[in-house]
Amino acid sequence: MYAVAKLTRAEYADYLQHLLDLDKEARYRRFATFVRDEVIAEHVRQLTNDDAVFGCYAPGPRLVGAAVVKTFERQDGTREGEIGISVHQDARGKGIGRKLIHRALLWCRTHDVKALHTACITSNQEMANLAKSVGAKLHYSEGFLEGAITLDPCDLSDHMLEVVADNHGMAEHNMLQAQAALSKMLEMAFAPTRFMMMSLPVAETDAEDTPAFRR
Ligand SMILES: CC(C)(COP(=O)(O)OP(=O)(O)OC[C@H]1O[C@@H](n2cnc3c(N)ncnc32)[C@H](O)[C@@H]1OP(=O)(O)O)[C@@H](O)C(=O)NCCC(=O)NCCS
Repeated sequence: MYAVAKLTRAEYADYLQHLLDLDKEARYRRFATFVRDEVIAEHVRQLTNDDAVFGCYAPGPRLVGAAVVKTFERQDGTREGEIGISVHQDARGKGIGRKLIHRALLWCRTHDVKALHTACITSNQEMANLAKSVGAKLHYSEGFLEGAITLDPCDLSDHMLEVVADNHGMAEHNMLQAQAALSKMLEMAFAPTRFMMMSLPVAETDAEDTPAFRR
């Protein structure tokens, strides 16, 4: 089970850890340049309340994917955003990136973000395909593939969908936490039995006296 939820500020630590856990190639693709751990930490520190981070939790719970929307204001006062998305190398190709981008787009609509920009290195076919599949028109610009998704004005159903998505995400996340707590409790409950069984003296038997040898 995967739980997609909007992260609270307290959960940004999970987002940071997720980014730090990306392998070298994924880190390069995510930030379109080689970045050190400190730069990633600064990226997370600089997120404001106008930005949003969505996470995808796998059992553990472990954050295996994240999408961040950083918003900015144009000179004419229009609010727009830029998305950065990453899925851990061992969780790719399972629809997590798609779930995250759809959740981010819904948030943009309900938060008056008129366009969502995306940028990646030109060889990043995975991201290019993902962006195109949600309506981005991409073009080459100074070594990057850039594009934007124009968002329809939000209506009541978007707000209702967001409430459902938030509650659903929270419930699934809680379930993953409960599962983890339960398996820890079971492990602890059975640990003494296992320990006792392991430390039981092995009975000395006469091989010829075992049932297999008896006629
Ligand atoms: C780009 C990325 C987020 C996709 O995540 P994902 O969870 O593997 O993607 P999904 O399984 O949801 O696939 C969604 C779509 O992405 C595209 N895609 C995903 N993997 C692909 C691949 N190996 N080759 C081509 N297209 C691919 C497809 O359009 C796919 O839709 P489809 O399955 O209907 O064909 C992931 O590869 C990643 O984290 N890359 C490293 C970081 C990065 O490049 N970030 C982008 C810059 S911000």
